[in-house]
Amino acid sequence: MEYTLAFDVYGTLIDTSGILKSLTRLTGETAKDFMDTWRNKQLEYAFRRGLMNSYVDFSECTSHALNYSCLVYNIPLKPTEKESLLQEYSTLPAFEDVTIGLEKLKAAGHHLFAFSNGSKKTVSQLLQNSKILNYFKDVVSVADVETFKPNPAVYTYFNTHTNSTKTNSWLISSNPFDVIGAISYGMRSAWVKRSENSVFDPWGIDPTLVISSIAELDNQL
Ligand code: LAC
Repeated sequence: MEYTLAFDVYGTLIDTSGILKSLTRLTGETAKDFMDTWRNKQLEYAFRRGLMNSYVDFSECTSHALNYSCLVYNIPLKPTEKESLLQEYSTLPAFEDVTIGLEKLKAAGHHLFAFSNGSKKTVSQLLQNSKILNYFKDVVSVADVETFKPNPAVYTYFNTHTNSTKTNSWLISSNPFDVIGAISYGMRSAWVKRSENSVFDPWGIDPTLVISSIAELDNQL
């Protein structure tokens, strides 16, 4: 069976820890904690914005979360340093397994889409930069619905926009909140467990599949 596949972007296709090198230069030993706080706050801000019906471009959540991290760790980065970190955030690399995985899935006849909290423009540039944009039929952004994952409205929008259904589509994501959102909505979902230490939220809602890389997906669909 040929499926419509919705690929989450940040953390699933694109390695957000690519920023660690620059952060180490700017924040020293704090870099790993700084990076984790930045990412967690970015997501928290998106969740809160969604609940408040106060949508902003995801890049605003990223930028506000960077400012928050500077305050938490008492590291007053200069505006130019922040700008260069945010610029780097839009040119992060893909994980190593991604190209071969997408290649196999496309060859098997599946319909591949990127599906992200990020804007269409930002995500398209990111995927173009990491040389994987051409595997996708389109980049679907939550911006069109002005809310964020895991609001069921965004998964509904994905199906409508791609002319797919709950039963013939899969969400592929390393983010447990995204997997749980898609499953609760009624899609199938593969959790990409990118590290041995990754933990899935113990809500009693399991992923349809657990894989450790995109390259494994083709054999399991
Ligand atoms: C995305 C974030 C949630 O790309 O990873 O949608």
